Amino acid sequence: MGIEQQLNAGKHLATMRAVVQHRYGPPSVLALSEVAIPVPGSGGVLVRVSAASVHPGDYFVMTGKPYMVRLVFGLRRPRHGIPGMDLAGVVAAVGSDVTALRPGDEVFGWSTAGALAEYACVPADNLVPVPANVSVVQGAAVPTSAMTALQALRKIANVQPGQTVLVTGASGGVGSFAVQIAKAFGAEVTGVCSTRNVDLVRSLGADHVVDYTRTDFTRSEKRYDVILDNVEAQPLAAVRRALTLTGILIPNSGRGGRWLGPIRRIVKARLLSGFTRQRLKPFTSIGKRQDLLALADLLTTGQVRAVIDRTCALDEAADALRYVAAGHTQGKVVITV
Ligand SMILES: NC(=O)c1ccc[n+]([C@@H]2O[C@H](COP(=O)([O-])OP(=O)(O)OC[C@H]3O[C@@H](n4cnc5c(N)ncnc54)[C@H](OP(=O)(O)O)[C@@H]3O)[C@@H](O)[C@H]2O)c1
Repeated sequence: MGIEQQLNAGKHLATMRAVVQHRYGPPSVLALSEVAIPVPGSGGVLVRVSAASVHPGDYFVMTGKPYMVRLVFGLRRPRHGIPGMDLAGVVAAVGSDVTALRPGDEVFGWSTAGALAEYACVPADNLVPVPANVSVVQGAAVPTSAMTALQALRKIANVQPGQTVLVTGASGGVGSFAVQIAKAFGAEVTGVCSTRNVDLVRSLGADHVVDYTRTDFTRSEKRYDVILDNVEAQPLAAVRRALTLTGILIPNSGRGGRWLGPIRRIVKARLLSGFTRQRLKPFTSIGKRQDLLALADLLTTGQVRAVIDRTCALDEAADALRYVAAGHTQGKVVITV
């Protein structure tokens, strides 16, 4: 009996393999375990996960640090107990109110209750069809990182054709999408990366590449209309030197102190923004179906692709998160299920 028939018959679903964590901590708190397959609510979709990607935010949630993440994800222990958000897979069953998706549809999107498992329950609004020319591995790599890049460049910076855009961390998860999206918007794009990633960033369409191991972009004469700073390796004052008089700087690193993460830097940027014509605009990305649909279009036309650093198996999730936390990812790390 298929999953959908079991749900319709009110039967208790079988179990699945899932990465679980019963407390916050380093990757060693993760264990592969057998748990009950979740049952979707009326507006939910049960997805048989084919692939799920991990990003620095998943590491923050797994460790519960900065501590402020616990306000959202559970004070004493992670509320859902299964890490991960971004996934791609096949619809196994839908809730009674879901009409836009059917069992068998191939979808990608973001879960709010964990993704590193054989099945995940996802609100229907968080899923869109995987474009025909895109693999599930590519699809799983897209949601959070690409939506962050899209929202930064479109909603926050409103990038226009001909503007100059500089992206730091251009070889990383957010940066590799940002370079391509800024190009798709008609900007003249500069990517900042290390020597080993120069060819990669150029292949993503960057007009100029700055190798940060040789050149400090904040000390060159060049000025940019928009800077998306995914790394924040240099102080705000230095990065502002590379911004035009009315340019927009988006400080975007999530790294920071044990308690508040990047909050101190965010507050500083916002306060400073009131005293200068330059606009300093830190922001928090939000999962939005419309944005994922826009990205699906960019994937379909080939203007955007996901760079896959490596794929790992479900039982290698701890290593995958350790690797992401080290901050040297080339594109995305995807776990195939
Ligand atoms: N605002 C939001 O809501 C939001 C949402 C998602 C993510 N974020 C944040 O965005 C940041 C980037 O995320 P991500 O997924 O892209 O991280 P990532 O995949 O870990 O990116 C790391 C990349 O940065 C490069 N890098 C390291 N130091 C650099 C430097 N000094 N200059 C230029 N490149 C450098 C690394 O390449 P090398 O090792 O070769 O240097 C690597 O390719 C994170 O801090 C994350 O927390 C914010």
